[in-house]
Amino acid sequence: MESVYNRIRDQRLHDRIVSAEEAASWIHDGMTLGLSGFTRAGDVKAVPFALAKRAEHEPLKVNVYTGASLGSDVDKLFAEKNMLNKRLPFQADATMRKGINAGDFHFVDQHLSHTSEWIRSNVLEPIDYAILEAVAITEDGMIIPTTSIGNSMVFSQHAKNIIVEINTAQTELLEGIHDLYEPEKQGERSPIPLTKPDDRIGLPGMKVDVDKIKGIVFTNQLDSPSTIVEPDDETVIMAQHLISFLREEIKAGRLTDKLAPLQSGIGSVANAVFHGLLDSEFTDLEVYSEVLQDAVFDLLDADKVRFASCCSITLSSSKMDKVFSNFEKYRDKLMLRPQEISNHPELIRRMGIISINTALELDIYGNVNSTHVMGTKMMNGIGGSGDFARNARLGIFVTKSIAKNGNISSIVPFVSHVDHNEHDVDVIVTEQGYADLRGLAPRERVEKIIQNCVHPMYREQLSAYYEEAKKRGGQTPHILEKALSWHINFEKNGTMLQRVEQPV
Ligand code: COA
Repeated sequence: MESVYNRIRDQRLHDRIVSAEEAASWIHDGMTLGLSGFTRAGDVKAVPFALAKRAEHEPLKVNVYTGASLGSDVDKLFAEKNMLNKRLPFQADATMRKGINAGDFHFVDQHLSHTSEWIRSNVLEPIDYAILEAVAITEDGMIIPTTSIGNSMVFSQHAKNIIVEINTAQTELLEGIHDLYEPEKQGERSPIPLTKPDDRIGLPGMKVDVDKIKGIVFTNQLDSPSTIVEPDDETVIMAQHLISFLREEIKAGRLTDKLAPLQSGIGSVANAVFHGLLDSEFTDLEVYSEVLQDAVFDLLDADKVRFASCCSITLSSSKMDKVFSNFEKYRDKLMLRPQEISNHPELIRRMGIISINTALELDIYGNVNSTHVMGTKMMNGIGGSGDFARNARLGIFVTKSIAKNGNISSIVPFVSHVDHNEHDVDVIVTEQGYADLRGLAPRERVEKIIQNCVHPMYREQLSAYYEEAKKRGGQTPHILEKALSWHINFEKNGTMLQRVEQPV
């Protein structure tokens, strides 16, 4: 049997093994926790549950900072038990979403590369406990993360105390694929010395002051699988449009068939688009992204992708089995980094990333809403889409042109919330086609978007809005009293269609 000491190789820490209940007993009402975990990967799986048990009998509310969404239903649990004062910077859980929109607790929706700067400069409440999943602790007290890094590096450096959860279900082969680098204080910082996705610039783990490690808990549970929907007819067509656009870029001499390092956001559409690259002629591809979903491993298997850098590996159940039972095959083609580095504007701009993210809705001038349903209700959060879109070589947004059986047009006169403004959006792709907005003035953009991307059900209605708006003039013509009329119509009548027509 594997000895626990293979996983805690620093002898100074051998007497710090505790139960999850004991570790949870150190946490008090009002404290701030920094939890490892990013899009359901590498989250802690024991102490949060012991804490939630305590919350059944005593008042216990905490601030929870993470990398992004947590797996193992921790976000759901904390929202259900009403254990949160504040949560940041991203989530993707239906129960938590409900709690946020009911105003049960505060949610700070933040660019994922920014949280670490706020922690480092004490803008946020100081972290009482960092609770971090690890695959091992080395002889010299270095904590080796598991399937994500997220914000664990900055938590480990700046928290007052650390609890480590060593997860024996995570393969020890993960050791060696992490690259932990923390930038210096702002104002005293040198350039981050990373120029290619496979550069190694830091250490294989988090070097911490071992006196801060208050307890070590053992777990043995795999990450929660992702719930990716397989590509459908429309997402396959969207992938083809995107590939057509990339071919035009090659023809114009702006790209080669190696493209440029690719980023793809979370979600089914973005995954399907990556899937579309499998049947393309592009080769020797590199990925510099936050999350690696199933499709990237298919591309690695097909030798389409040469190297993939990320801050989390989030896979479906069947893919998880295949990848982790055969991890030796992937180890030298992968690198995990803190989200501050995977999403760093300096690096995204330097490497000229091609960034592909999903919009909830966008408007006729190219402003994108990624987060707020009907302008008010939080969906998930901006995630890394802003980090990438603003700084990428190509900021591409994909969305199906309609939602909810055609009662919603994803392209509206005016977005009901802005996450990415018209200056950050280069290309829009729907199943109808793509619109390359680069170099176009607002009035040119409208024509392209309506012609190439809007669903035929809404084309005429959108053109009519624009024609009326044009009569009022302006650099960016609008009819202010009608700009949100499509959303109002949906809230009142359940459809954005002006005439009541049969939905598709
Ligand atoms: N108005 C209201 N609802 C809409 C909508 C719109 N304009 N467009 C889509 N939706 C609904 C869909 O109907 C679907 O609802 P359902 O869950 O009830 O079926 C839901 O939104 C999700 O849409 P889907 O088409 O399944 O897309 P997705 O799974 O790819 O997720 C986002 C899309 C935008 C929610 C998701 O990509 C996201 O959270 N993005 C922001 C964060 C981000 O970009 N991160 C990238 C770096 S990690």
